[in-house]
Amino acid sequence: MDGDNREYLILKVNGGKYRIPKGTGPNETAPGDTLARVLRELLGLTGTKTPCNKGECGACTVLRDGMPILSCSTLAVECEGAEITTIEGVADRETGALHPIQQAFLDVDAIQCGMCTPGIVMSGKALLDKNDSPTETQVREALAGNICRCTGYEKYVDGILLAAERIREAKKEGGMV
Ligand code: FES
Ligand code: FES
Repeated sequence: MDGDNREYLILKVNGGKYRIPKGTGPNETAPGDTLARVLRELLGLTGTKTPCNKGECGACTVLRDGMPILSCSTLAVECEGAEITTIEGVADRETGALHPIQQAFLDVDAIQCGMCTPGIVMSGKALLDKNDSPTETQVREALAGNICRCTGYEKYVDGILLAAERIREAKKEGGMV
């Protein structure tokens, strides 16, 4: 029996490493595949939403090496070698505790239909990972690419500011985050 001659796309997602066969079959990735397609259809990570699938709404936001990107408008091959984080990877990997932004969104009742929420969590996380004391303006700027048709944004902004406060407290106590 011959060895495996297939070529693979190697993606690092949420701390794991995935080998995805290249090709045009149903479980293979073609050169033009977006990161969103690979995440959702080949890796089963459907927490990343793609309501517009053309770079307009921000719901598909994931992090590439800590920076927010639109996964519907980024080729999967452009992400080889990078650390990709999706909404499935933001909770504490050991305890399963929600990320402070997720918890704060629940606590302030930020979420309505939820379609935009994963992308907003990712944009908020990118901000708070760099700056745990953002101003309201900085939070609004960080969410500028994320469209929400339901909430009016106020509670999302409140939630991110609350999460920032909790992160600062946890750091003071020498705890998580
Ligand atoms: S699904 Fe990517 S920007 Fe809307
Ligand atoms: S909660 Fe429905 S689009 Fe934002």
